[in-house]
Amino acid sequence: MHITFHESTKTFHLYNDDISYIMTIMRNGHLGQLYFGERIRDKEDFSYLLETCERPMTSYIYENDRTFSLEHIRQEYPVFGTTDYRQSAVEIQQENGSRICDFQYLGHTLSEGKPLLPGLPATYTEHEEEALTLTVTLKDAVTNVKAELLYTIFAKGGILTRSVRFVNEGTHPVMLTRAMSLCLDLPDHDYVWQQLSGCWARECHIHNRRLEPGILSIGSMRGNSSHEHNPFLVLKRQSTTERQGEAIGFSLIYSGNFRIQAEVDAHDTLRILAGIDPETFTWKLDCKETFQTPEAVMVYTCRGLNHMSQTFHKLYQKRLARGYWRDRPRPILNNNWEATYFDFTQESLLAIASKAKESGVELFVLDDGWFGARNSEHAGLGDWKANRTRLPDGIAGLSKQIEALGLKFGLWFEPEMVNKDSDFYRQHPDWILKTPDRNQSHGRYQYVLDFSRMEVVDAIYEQVSAILREAKISYIKWDMNRSITECYSSAWPADRQGEIYHRYILGVYDLYDRLTKEFPQVLFESCASGGGRFDPGMLYYAPQGWISDNSDAIERLKIQYGTSMCYPISSMGTHVSVIPNHQVFRNTPLHTRANTAYFGTFGYELDLNKLTPEEIEEVNAQIAFMKKYRNILQFGTFYRLLSPFEGNEIAWMVVSEDLKTALVGWYRVLNCINARYTRLRLEGLNPAYCYRNSQSGICCYGDELMYAGMITSDETAGQVPSGVTPYTDFESRIYILEAAEA
Ligand code: DGJ
Repeated sequence: MHITFHESTKTFHLYNDDISYIMTIMRNGHLGQLYFGERIRDKEDFSYLLETCERPMTSYIYENDRTFSLEHIRQEYPVFGTTDYRQSAVEIQQENGSRICDFQYLGHTLSEGKPLLPGLPATYTEHEEEALTLTVTLKDAVTNVKAELLYTIFAKGGILTRSVRFVNEGTHPVMLTRAMSLCLDLPDHDYVWQQLSGCWARECHIHNRRLEPGILSIGSMRGNSSHEHNPFLVLKRQSTTERQGEAIGFSLIYSGNFRIQAEVDAHDTLRILAGIDPETFTWKLDCKETFQTPEAVMVYTCRGLNHMSQTFHKLYQKRLARGYWRDRPRPILNNNWEATYFDFTQESLLAIASKAKESGVELFVLDDGWFGARNSEHAGLGDWKANRTRLPDGIAGLSKQIEALGLKFGLWFEPEMVNKDSDFYRQHPDWILKTPDRNQSHGRYQYVLDFSRMEVVDAIYEQVSAILREAKISYIKWDMNRSITECYSSAWPADRQGEIYHRYILGVYDLYDRLTKEFPQVLFESCASGGGRFDPGMLYYAPQGWISDNSDAIERLKIQYGTSMCYPISSMGTHVSVIPNHQVFRNTPLHTRANTAYFGTFGYELDLNKLTPEEIEEVNAQIAFMKKYRNILQFGTFYRLLSPFEGNEIAWMVVSEDLKTALVGWYRVLNCINARYTRLRLEGLNPAYCYRNSQSGICCYGDELMYAGMITSDETAGQVPSGVTPYTDFESRIYILEAAEA
């Protein structure tokens, strides 16, 4: 990996074996974007890539020159209103109301490795030789505000990260009204835009659109990154598939309000912007103050969507997630939520846990309802002390009893929320976000604590850490079940109210930081009514997240498939639940529920006491299977094979690092009568290894499985022979492929 600065042409070239990123200092001192894509050979002069020409009805910077208009130039960190009329990356409002700024090159530095971003989650390096960072400092001479553009290129993979740090070196405060993390101007718009969108219980569905002139955007103004749109975008060529073709993935490491947008201009060039949502953001930058934007990650590949995803998976698994659990296979858990909801006692919990232990479960998780007056959604949030009527021995006592069964114990919290019916609220009614003289809207009868105030974060930290200290807790599920409304903090002055959404998220990160540092061996799972805040920011603190409240195996195929576009399998919370399913009331076979959940952290969301002996036998086998293969399932290389958004048959697979074992998940939504013969072309195998198929017993070389395919036809293609159980709807299979000694 290299970062070269060609002095004579004032050109930066960042490159490794996979990508090149080239930019130049233009004659007006701004940074111009020349190229981002597959690696190209370095040379002194790429200046001709900066295309400028005379066009009518355009405004120009220089008096006697009708070629230099920012409107037609691809830039790195553009400003609005001084010849560029597209949406800008940055806007600063001065005290006199002016909004024009002019960020000119001041200097640059190179460093090995990658700096941490104070208070914010970000990718990191463990060894300096893993990455190089270029910091280009720009300065606006009128305000004396500096913008330091940080670019990190990793040694391996097509990865480039971006963020910006503002420093006010002037003598007057300024207002940052827009501070995006990334701008990428591309020379053409011939891309399909792919987003992950949905809503509660239907997260991360894949949506594709051709880009047309105008602006297309996704984002959140809810205070959380949201169920509606994940902070992730793919631009792919029309011919790109999972196996081949160009794609650029954009991912924002942030959990609050965001925007990712594409603007196609009149000459079909394309501007991508990603960062904090400008609509709900302003930040007063006092003299000497700094402001750091969140980090945005770009991944370029010319080898298809699977390759793009694998690059993200590896980066987020190894260099975003941190700590004790980062590389460890995750415990198989039993969560009591769908088993009991609020209706449980210490005794009934212990009954669920001991049955789970018999089947091989490793961790019992007590969900919502254990604290304060929490008998329903109406009360208790904020009072993080055990409800002694339900749990006479408290959390410390219960956790000991669970551990005595041979299980680890996990506990649910919703640290950011309060019910008005709670002692915490009665003591601190002014500690919620609320706008003076306005109605306070609720969500699930709860209110959002003002995490922009450190004393509020401190008070919650005291309560949560006290329980973690006194009880034997190995896992925390950190939930968050409503978005922010009437966003206003009584602790901050009028001109800082635009900062509250961001300060809130900084407060959340701060609490996560303190708890994960003090309790490094506790496994954190993030949750926000399922996937309402499943984003890279959370992964920095919690290496896994509950991706959806929808636990139906068939619905989950779409949710997990979409989520895998950016996020690793080890980060996806996946559980087997009862039938009829509690969200869609569908009956699916027990093996299909497990076959879907294996591709995640795996657990049960039910009371095993309610299963038949035959079902328990099946569960025992499932758990044994997961224990045997979870290292590969969670940390192997994942490939999407057949999309649930495109057909009735769905498939994906993982391959072990040594390529000797592969597990293929195959699913069919509806049964077919007299069906066609089907073959599934596999991926990522060693062509020379001979793999034995656990279903058919047939041995095939990797090349045959990848190019001719693996037969997945079944008896429904003809008549079901007597003695064979016929397949029905929601069928699935796991094929284990083990290579004979090579
Ligand atoms: C929403 C979560 O997604 C569920 O799993 C459960 O923890 C409930 N909250 C509890 O209130």
